[in-house]
Amino acid sequence: MLEIEQLVKHFCTGGADVVRALDGLSLSIAPGELVALYGPSGTGKTTLLNIVAALLAPDRGRVRVAGRDVTALSAREAARYRRLELGYVSQSLDLLPGVSAIDNAALKLFDMRIGVREAHRRVASLMERLGIGERLTHRAEELSHGERQRVLIARALATGPRLVLADELTGSLDTARSREVLTLLTRVCHEDRVAALLATHDPQAAGFADRTHVLQDGRLLDPAATPLPD
Ligand SMILES: Nc1ncnc2c1ncn2[C@@H]1O[C@H](COP(=O)(O)OP(=O)(O)O)[C@@H](O)[C@H]1O
Ligand SMILES: [Mg+2]
Repeated sequence: MLEIEQLVKHFCTGGADVVRALDGLSLSIAPGELVALYGPSGTGKTTLLNIVAALLAPDRGRVRVAGRDVTALSAREAARYRRLELGYVSQSLDLLPGVSAIDNAALKLFDMRIGVREAHRRVASLMERLGIGERLTHRAEELSHGERQRVLIARALATGPRLVLADELTGSLDTARSREVLTLLTRVCHEDRVAALLATHDPQAAGFADRTHVLQDGRLLDPAATPLPD
């Protein structure tokens, strides 16, 4: 479903300094597989997800999603790919202010011209499963940090994407909520054959994945995906 080949992304930070965020990273994820990308802050996790989301161009390498190279899409194709094929829960909690939680979660469905009633029906059940069923009509600014994140998870899953990217998904959730959200994500991936890439610095979150890769110096430390030490 997702094939990343020899991805390289360096950032010039002025002068002769170069940050080697990604330095020849390769990774494949099959449909129905939840893979964690584990590494401390600054190891290139967000850079990788942004490249897979076609928001950032790599210097070298390829990213294929369902066989198609998404690093070669036009801006219009990339927007369409993100809307229809991808569910990206980014680190920024960018909800539309003044808009209800349920409308925020249904945003991509509205983009697809799905009617309000049907869109609400689809996202309401997801939001219920994510434990924010009581918050449907609350406006974005009335939600806690963790609730906002779950609205974004509902938004990402609403279109039934084949690939889900999640950046520090559980960073702002307490342990019990983290478990709930990760359990839901694992179930969705396995049942609906969705491939998921979960970037995290939290070993507990990584523990939910089918495979965990450790990122260091822009490459996977363990191409064979050894389990994390306790
Ligand atoms: N636009 C950018 N310009 C310069 N350096 C960047 C940029 N984006 C990321 N970096 C650098 O690349 C490295 C990896 O960053 P990032 O992908 O955000 O790591 P992580 O998500 O694992 O914390 C860091 O050293 C970061 O400072
Ligand atoms: Mg990051």
